[in-house]
Amino acid sequence: MPDIAVLPGDGIGVDITREAVRVLAQVRPDVRCTEAPVGGAALDRGLPPLPDDTRALCERSDAILFGAVGLPKYDGKPMAERPEAALFALRSGFKLYANLRPVRVFPGLEDASSLRPELVRGLDLVVVRELTGGIYFGKKETRIENGVEVASDTMLYRAPEIERIARTGFELARRRRKHLTSVDKENVLDTSRLWRRVVLRIAPEYPDVHLDHLLVDNAAMQLVRRPADFDVIVTENMFGDILSDEAAIVTGSIGTLPSASLGERGSPGKQFGMYEPIGGTAPDIAGKGIANPTAAILSAALLLRYSLDDETNASRIERAVQAAYAAGKRTADVAAGAPALSTTAFTDAVIAEL
Ligand code: IPM
Ligand code: MG
Repeated sequence: MPDIAVLPGDGIGVDITREAVRVLAQVRPDVRCTEAPVGGAALDRGLPPLPDDTRALCERSDAILFGAVGLPKYDGKPMAERPEAALFALRSGFKLYANLRPVRVFPGLEDASSLRPELVRGLDLVVVRELTGGIYFGKKETRIENGVEVASDTMLYRAPEIERIARTGFELARRRRKHLTSVDKENVLDTSRLWRRVVLRIAPEYPDVHLDHLLVDNAAMQLVRRPADFDVIVTENMFGDILSDEAAIVTGSIGTLPSASLGERGSPGKQFGMYEPIGGTAPDIAGKGIANPTAAILSAALLLRYSLDDETNASRIERAVQAAYAAGKRTADVAAGAPALSTTAFTDAVIAEL
């Protein structure tokens, strides 16, 4: 029996993870879901952001279904006392270096985009973000120097870290439209020059994939200028963080986008992974029953695909979500003023389509 660690976390993480579990149970009643506290939900109980029991549960599970962490009341706290510390502990602890963020515009939702509908029609790209290196994990320091406050963060990459994420990008592109865009800041950063050298070094192994390179500032511009031209984007940790939010909102709502974080544990289709919406905790709408559960539901689909080797049910869920949108079902974030469904009612509509 497959075991899933369910970590709803904070804010709307709770509201939408609940619905994803409901959908998962519908297609795979054999899956055992066990819930545990993480982030602010753990801190509120006097526990660390990633309690030992939660980590142990993840350790003995086949995959993690994650909600979101972070709340304004923790702003300004040192990292160890912040909900986000749990994310970094999970990412680095389980060596989840490959973060896949598929960005898709559902037919019928083009009008929800901040861009003209014709620019986003058919948009279907994946941001492959390096997740365990770079400036997120390099040496950090805050000190006083000659009476002045000074802080530094170090961006560091080792060639093997770049090589394995570049391979993830190439492999994914190979199974899609065979176009890989590597994003860096080669005109300024040493890490980016190394990045580009490594990507170019392995490119000959993927002659069927068309490779191009964009500087990150230009990439940010092209993403709003011609988003539908992208297939797979591979980039370092912080660039990927920023570009994936940008790519996401181009679809109209950040509430529709899932992600998968994968590492080396397991075999293809049976990889250990963490699956989470990319949208965050949205404290302003948490607990109101109005959040869009799409990202969490689609994260459950990715979990089936990559960790439980269940392509059938993964695509079944994706088709059901698509059908619900095609039938005009909308939560408030994408309703454009029209009557909106609650989190639960939208999920019911997806389940009805299954
Ligand atoms: C993300 C988030 C996190 C990140 C935050 C919550 C620390 O923005 O997963 O994109 O920066 O990685
Ligand atoms: Mg982010």
